[in-house]
Amino acid sequence: MPEESLRITDNRTGKSYDVPLYHDAVRAMDLRQIKKDDGDFGLMTYDPAFLNTASCMSAITYIDGDTGILRYRGYPIEELAGKRSFLEVAYLLLFGELPDAPQLTEWADKIAHHTLIHENLKKFMEGFRHDAHPMGMFVSTVAALSTFYPDARDVMNRQSRRMQLLRLIGKVPTIAAMAYRHSLGLPFVYPDNSLSYTENFLSMLWKMTEPKYQANPVLARALDILFILHADHEQNCGTNAMRCVGSSHADPYLSVAAAAAALAGPLHGGANEEVLRMLDEIGTVSAVPEFLAKVKAGHGKLMGFGHRVYKNYDPRARIIKQTAEEVFRVTGANPKLEIALELERAALHDEYFIKRKLYPNVDFYSGIIYQAMGFRPEMFTVLFAIPRTVGWMAQWLEMLDDAEQKIARPRQIYTGHELRHDAAYRCEVGTPVAAA
Ligand code: COA
Repeated sequence: MPEESLRITDNRTGKSYDVPLYHDAVRAMDLRQIKKDDGDFGLMTYDPAFLNTASCMSAITYIDGDTGILRYRGYPIEELAGKRSFLEVAYLLLFGELPDAPQLTEWADKIAHHTLIHENLKKFMEGFRHDAHPMGMFVSTVAALSTFYPDARDVMNRQSRRMQLLRLIGKVPTIAAMAYRHSLGLPFVYPDNSLSYTENFLSMLWKMTEPKYQANPVLARALDILFILHADHEQNCGTNAMRCVGSSHADPYLSVAAAAAALAGPLHGGANEEVLRMLDEIGTVSAVPEFLAKVKAGHGKLMGFGHRVYKNYDPRARIIKQTAEEVFRVTGANPKLEIALELERAALHDEYFIKRKLYPNVDFYSGIIYQAMGFRPEMFTVLFAIPRTVGWMAQWLEMLDDAEQKIARPRQIYTGHELRHDAAYRCEVGTPVAAA
């Protein structure tokens, strides 16, 4: 028995129970022993939307939402975003430690060897309508990878897992860039493995007729920082989808596609696209008070504000705001920035937002940078999905090695009808039989 426990008295029966505490949590299964009588199923917990339920133990990402702290494997996000590359951070998230120089070279080389996709997958992508949303293309094409790599189904085989990991991290930028170029009617650009992970992505996006694409180093570094900030965020909706689907031992391509589908929603990764639409709708700085009044009256949300976990300034939003300044020095300012700054200022001084602890989240400024860099809003969530693939895979690997995890299958509290019979059936001698 752990040192700390909780004494629960069931007022229905007068019985008391000592329930052990682990990391300040009770195990829901320890409540099952609390029964009215022997025929009773026992107590369950009811927690729609997992507001207060830990679904796993994890050593990957730490968030303290009240003070605005985010750490990967113990390192503050500010330190990682300040000095490290996305591939170093990816290695850290996946394997627990930052790579040394030879490990990083080997890691980057291995990923670079998996950036190409099968030509049939290219044909598959050509089948999408010209105006298909890039996120829909991304989700479907990642799922389609499953049909190219049947070896991925062997999810308990560590060697196979490692291979799928390299393939996924190598191929998601290629698929993302192809989705983008398809929506513009531009020919696909093959990967250039002499470039860094982010530079190669920019080359696949924007290379035209020049023999080699030279990314602006400030923009390439800004994208690398954005990738670091988006790489993992513990048990959010998409990661929960990854773990849930992965728990059935579906292959990692299908699980990543499911996680990316969850990310596509406007309350999750789709929020940055919505922020830009909102800024367009507001139009001018002078219209900010009117817009906030509408939000407070319950007509719509202030997109890019609020978070299930952060009840303080999202540390990623702070870093993005700084990165935005560097990007704007290269691209010229995005006129929407002024509206965003005024929205933030006004909301942070408004009783409605203060009372509910609503602060800017990662999506508030990311869309503005992406737009200044030349991306259309439809592409924003895809830019989120590329680095988050690393987090999903880290969480998936951790889940498969966790002896306590089983197929994810919540309970429900049934609130429907008691037994009743269909009038199309007639009862003979008490047994329902099909009507003639
Ligand atoms: N604008 C206005 N009001 C908001 C708000 C927003 N962005 N986010 C939350 N609220 C309000 C809710 O209406 C609710 O008010 P009430 O207590 O009067 O009913 C209160 O704040 C609590 O919000 P709730 O919806 O219970 O929080 P949640 O944890 O379920 O939702 C989000 C978290 C992120 C889904 C939510 O804040 C949101 O929709 N934000 C906008 C979308 C967004 O930026 N998503 C990206 C997340 S990284």
